[in-house]
Amino acid sequence: MSIRETAWIGLEPAQLSRLSQSGVAGSAPRNPPDPVGLMRYSGLRIWEMPLAFPAMHPIEIDDLTSALRWRYATKSFDATKIIPPDVFDALLDALVLAPSSFGMQPWKFIVVQDPALRAELQPASWNQPQVTEASHFVVLAVREAIAAAEVDAWIAHLAKVRGVATTSLGEYRGRMTSFLAAMDDAQKFAWASRQAYVALGQLLTCAALLGVDSCPMEGISPPAYDASLGLAGSGYRTVVACALGFRSASDKYASVPKSRFDRAQVVEYR
Ligand SMILES: Cc1cc2nc3c(=O)[nH]c(=O)nc-3n(C[C@H](O)[C@H](O)[C@H](O)COP(=O)(O)O)c2cc1C
Repeated sequence: MSIRETAWIGLEPAQLSRLSQSGVAGSAPRNPPDPVGLMRYSGLRIWEMPLAFPAMHPIEIDDLTSALRWRYATKSFDATKIIPPDVFDALLDALVLAPSSFGMQPWKFIVVQDPALRAELQPASWNQPQVTEASHFVVLAVREAIAAAEVDAWIAHLAKVRGVATTSLGEYRGRMTSFLAAMDDAQKFAWASRQAYVALGQLLTCAALLGVDSCPMEGISPPAYDASLGLAGSGYRTVVACALGFRSASDKYASVPKSRFDRAQVVEYR
């Protein structure tokens, strides 16, 4: 049984009924649940999935370690191999579901599909071929300087999702507001950028678990990306990118031994 199927089956009848009576009833699952259909309304699924978690089967420990050892920063992708839509949809969920400080999600994930735009980005990426060869290319951008109004918008969203009054989140709002008020714009951007790296890490791991190759890419010119992607004036700035797809059979880096410090060098116990 796949994790997706298990997740569905893990839903209580009341939860399933809530799904089908929700605002997305047109595409909501019918009985029996349709695990493929699940992929189409991730906005709802995001809130429903944690409730199903206890019924999921964790993967084997060896499978996790194998996936982490299998993945590598892919230098050469097979341009003929395309990530299936449902798999890429799951990877987008991995990004959307990434944790962030205060839950603020100060990001935008820009999926660059236009081949001409990808070709334009390549010279702005140290000419790295992954930009044009990979099946999918995602740019992670974040808010330049989160404003107080955005805290209010987030609090309003949180209240709606949790079905509570906005005022009940006043203390949380206050903590967020004073946290942000203590930072200048450069510090806010640095803070938001750190959140993007959390999302990037989650994306890389999830891609590996789904058998998708990836290359995180910081070897890019964020200002050039901002210009090409039309981000100027949007309030968002490019931080990092990620190529996703399937390794080329000729990528010699696939067989290069993993080079990591010994655990004893990087793990300490106190
Ligand atoms: C934030 C970040 C940015 C990176 N940028 C690039 C890049 O621009 N091009 C590239 O080929 N690899 C890039 N890498 C890959 C690293 O070089 C690679 O992860 C590291 O050497 C370890 O190798 P492995 O991931 O293949 O195990 C980046 C990695 C990270 C985490």
